[in-house]
Amino acid sequence: MRIVLTGAAGFIGSHTLVVLQELGHEVIAIDDFSNSEPHIPGRIFQITGKEAEWMELDIAQPGLLKNALRNRLPIDGIIHFAAFKAVEESVHNPLKYYRNNLYGLVEVLDCMRELNIPKLVFSSSCTVYGNPDELPVTEQAPFRPAVSPYGETKQMGERILMDTLKAHPELQACILRYFNPIGAHPSGLIGELCRGVPSNLIPYLTQTAIGKRERLRIFGNDYSTPDGTCIRDFIHVCDLADAHVRALNYLDSPKENPGIFNVGTGKGVSVQEAVDTFNSIWGKSLPVEYVSRRAGDVEQIWSDTQKIERDLGWSAKRSLADALADAWRWEQTLAGH
Ligand code: WQD
Repeated sequence: MRIVLTGAAGFIGSHTLVVLQELGHEVIAIDDFSNSEPHIPGRIFQITGKEAEWMELDIAQPGLLKNALRNRLPIDGIIHFAAFKAVEESVHNPLKYYRNNLYGLVEVLDCMRELNIPKLVFSSSCTVYGNPDELPVTEQAPFRPAVSPYGETKQMGERILMDTLKAHPELQACILRYFNPIGAHPSGLIGELCRGVPSNLIPYLTQTAIGKRERLRIFGNDYSTPDGTCIRDFIHVCDLADAHVRALNYLDSPKENPGIFNVGTGKGVSVQEAVDTFNSIWGKSLPVEYVSRRAGDVEQIWSDTQKIERDLGWSAKRSLADALADAWRWEQTLAGH
């Protein structure tokens, strides 16, 4: 297939590009590099040995994507990764998030409609559930009021997509609700790139281990969970990449449109357990400090994976230890080790 990836130089996008190329698909890789590095395309080539067609452009600019793809038809599908994802930044700079995340999606959908591109896989997030009433959380769980503009853009994005599919049933889409993506490609050549101080747990943890940070602050150990720390569903980014290929295949004969799927391991892991697991891999003890809770944090969430297993034939194959070992290797690569 000929597939367009928006946000192809990003964390999930780059790992999905590797998988698509390894399966022999032709990929048009689009990124504005506002949240990535120019050396990523070369790293991906080092892994796959295959050239993607790279286009540097801001898809949120009206008409740019359409003009770029008009002469590259036919295109079988688009995987739309391009979006900003830093929860805290979205609170301080909401318009940056509404413009990029929502204008970008509208441009992608408009381009599909006009150029007859039939399939879309949309990156959503478990953040749409907020603090779910029941665990594990299924795709039928209701949206909870978003606690950040980032979360709002994921809920609004899903609604924009649903309304567009109603008006244009010739489009077929999957919505993938990611839980917590972590880890890196086992080669150590690509992984999660963080600009400034990481807000996410695992990059901050590995930066502490490499000595870039003094200690890992654990935000709250007074939650009503077994060890008092929050619980999450940490999924290896390579498993997440595989799920996108399964989603494209599903769209050949979708049972529902859009197909909405939780993409997680189905296992809840606490922050403390993640730290303990890392320590057992590292062979040392990470310096941690227990501090007060972080505003907006969900206490505990993990996925019910029955639907994605049944309809996409996908389940996570890599363990938490695999993901932490791969994240640690990536951190060492970044430090030039
Ligand atoms: C996980 C847990 C923190 C940092 C967000 C978005 C989600 C997705 C992933 C984009 C929480 C604790 C963290 C630290 C800590 N975004 N923590 N010390 O908030 O679950 O999800 O990022 O893909 O859509 O909502 O991820 O990694 O920030 O936090 O104790 O230095 O780790 O309190 O309990 P989160 P996270």
